[in-house]
Amino acid sequence: MFSALRNQTAFFRQFRQRFETTGAIAPSSRFLARSMTSYLALRDPAVPVRVLEIGPGTGPVTNSIVRLLRPGDVFDLVELNAEFVQILQQRFESEPAWASAKTQSQIHQLPVQEFEASAPYDFVISGLPLNNFPAELVKSIAENYFRLLKPGGVLSYFEYMYVRPIRKVVSRGAERMRITSIDTTLQSHCDRCRIRRDNIWLNTPPAWVQHLRGLE
Ligand SMILES: C[S@@+](CC[C@H](N)C(=O)[O-])C[C@H]1O[C@@H](n2cnc3c(N)ncnc32)[C@H](O)[C@@H]1O
Repeated sequence: MFSALRNQTAFFRQFRQRFETTGAIAPSSRFLARSMTSYLALRDPAVPVRVLEIGPGTGPVTNSIVRLLRPGDVFDLVELNAEFVQILQQRFESEPAWASAKTQSQIHQLPVQEFEASAPYDFVISGLPLNNFPAELVKSIAENYFRLLKPGGVLSYFEYMYVRPIRKVVSRGAERMRITSIDTTLQSHCDRCRIRRDNIWLNTPPAWVQHLRGLE
């Protein structure tokens, strides 16, 4: 209870200090975390998998992932923010479900656009606030998602509901061009690869979770 409150406070502080990269007022809900890990939950437990989480923050989605890991799985986390990395490290030390996944998990503190993986992943689970980023960065991150994903693997990411459609209408000039370009990039990936979209109303704010399959 105390640590949940501490994580919420740390998240809100980072929201105020680093709005562009934190991108949310509060950590994701357990309902959103469940949707983000729904394909991982369906994997064959007898076959080891590689899992990558991008932008874990204080770890609400990580908390679902660690419970689904099996012996032999590999779990990498890529997080930019040093304060969040410290919280994640503490959770791997102190929370039983996290501690049992510690030896198969590795936190990498760097921007995902600089992350070099030793092999592609079966599951890429991303919490990046793409709508806040420059359009060119979104293009390169989206390409990276598919470079990091095995053919046939599953990419799951979330975005807050209606943010892009509304911003496309109300914004002007350079901001309108930025948001339209992000929309084109993400929509083209969804058109080619989307498996499913979940509507998560019980989250602050409500979110869409997009699930895409890596091309074979
Ligand atoms: C919207 S928060 C999501 C946090 C958490 N996954 C959740 O659902 O509550 C976005 C997270 O992405 C991280 N982040 C932003 N840009 C990043 C980048 N280029 N590479 C890695 N992490 C990044 C932020 O520091 C933050 O932890």
